Amino acid sequence: MVTQPNAIAPVRTATVVILDFGAQYSQLIARRVREADVYSEILPHDASWEAISAREPAAIVLTGGPESTLAPDALGVDPRVFSSGIPVLGICYGMQLMARELGGTLVRSQHREFGAATLEVVAQSPLFAGVAQTSRAWMSHGDTVVAPPPGFATLARTTGCAQAAIGDATRKLYGVQFHPEVVHTDAGKSVIANFLHEIAGIAAAWKMDSFVDTTIANIKAQVGGGRVICALSGGVDSAVAATLVARAVGTQLTCIFVDTGLLRANEGDAVVAAFRDVLHLDVVRVDARERFLARLAGVIDPEEKRIRIGHEFIAIFEEEANKLTDVGFLVQGTLYPDVIESKTPGSKAGHKIKSHHNVGGLPEHMALTLVEPLRALFKDEVREVGRVLGLPDAIVQRQPFPGPGLAVRVLGEVTADRVETVRAADKIVTDEIEAATLDPKPWQYFAVLTPLQSVGVMGDGRTYANLVAVRAITSEDGMTADWARLPHALLEKISTRIVNEVAGVNRIAYDITSKPPATVEWE
Ligand code: XMP
Repeated sequence: MVTQPNAIAPVRTATVVILDFGAQYSQLIARRVREADVYSEILPHDASWEAISAREPAAIVLTGGPESTLAPDALGVDPRVFSSGIPVLGICYGMQLMARELGGTLVRSQHREFGAATLEVVAQSPLFAGVAQTSRAWMSHGDTVVAPPPGFATLARTTGCAQAAIGDATRKLYGVQFHPEVVHTDAGKSVIANFLHEIAGIAAAWKMDSFVDTTIANIKAQVGGGRVICALSGGVDSAVAATLVARAVGTQLTCIFVDTGLLRANEGDAVVAAFRDVLHLDVVRVDARERFLARLAGVIDPEEKRIRIGHEFIAIFEEEANKLTDVGFLVQGTLYPDVIESKTPGSKAGHKIKSHHNVGGLPEHMALTLVEPLRALFKDEVREVGRVLGLPDAIVQRQPFPGPGLAVRVLGEVTADRVETVRAADKIVTDEIEAATLDPKPWQYFAVLTPLQSVGVMGDGRTYANLVAVRAITSEDGMTADWARLPHALLEKISTRIVNEVAGVNRIAYDITSKPPATVEWE
């Protein structure tokens, strides 16, 4: 059985608790708070007062939500949120709930207000310190506060909303109808920073160096003298997690690197060199290239490929782990977005927790306790920790790469030859894009070997050879993406080089679909 640890306690700097009403933007709020160098955690709106106060929150933020506070069974919070003396910022639904609970008046508006509006600050308040009197703010609401509760002043308005911001300076309770967390709200960053620093008096102290020190101490306490294993993929998450654990318990950690044969050019050697020679970690390299090819023989269906690769990976990992004695702990690079508890609004169902296994799900009978030092972090924070730990740029800045590797970039059957073809084409794409000066730099770029053959002419002869597709995208997180407008001269160079240098390829296509409707990977 894989047991969840009592999550490694986050760094003991001031914590802001974000109570989530199912808003689209809850994670964005958490990020904005952290960008103000303040640690934040998201809890479901109906978290018990005990759960909230256990975090000793220095401030509480109430998110927006898709429901109406005027609905008979509207989602609420423990009333002590408003009476405990802790500063509170309510955003959208959060502001309406605060107004309703404290005696304000709300109505369902005749016309809903969505999108950009002009925000006008109408009263002096620390919430708007340094903010222009008028600025653009992003609104998205149906209900409106028409009379703030006793003790509250109107701080800002828009043409469609007379109470766009309200505040009670004595009780340090504030509400904004607009969304300060989205980039389209000009004063958003300032409003959040003002609430945290000026109103709640929280110092900007959430820094990655202090995270590193405290996390290392926590890992030492959790693991004691136990033996720990970690699967290295070469990706930034497992690299940073392993390095933190190694800093804490040194030689008690053994890293297992499974060479699937499905990595990019030189990648296996680079991973092992970086971890064994530069970081001096104990790395077991397993050459499993033949095993993966054997498992993939004759398989064309993309899902079947993924399943087989996942199972084979686990089988190999387990075999290697069994060669070591007394292993008690397994390191995983689980990130915060994977562990946030969120309640589906309206469903009244229990909390859903997304579980995430970066080694593809471990067998139940492996009695290992998880060490998850990145559970509190977002991806960009992981990169920052990597930098603080001194990891090489090649790892910290590594572009995303799918777990099943080149197998999902060889459409159709995966054979040693076809993997070699895509690997050679991919190296050209990567080398050329990295050598070019591009603004914006694509977020991800690679080659795909299609199962198509087409007619060409080379020299004086007819060819009938493979079509390779080139994909380069711009994106922030891989959830949505646009195709990168690469210069024609660069595309030409990539095309010419692949056709000339990679045997069996006579035609190149450039993928000009965004996501959605396409996905980033072709399989
Ligand atoms: P899709 O193809 O779903 O890809 O649009 C979005 C991002 O996720 C990466 N990707 C994966 N990453 N394991 C991973 O760790 C996987 O199985 C996997 N499949 C896709 C993909 O490269 C892109 O960045």
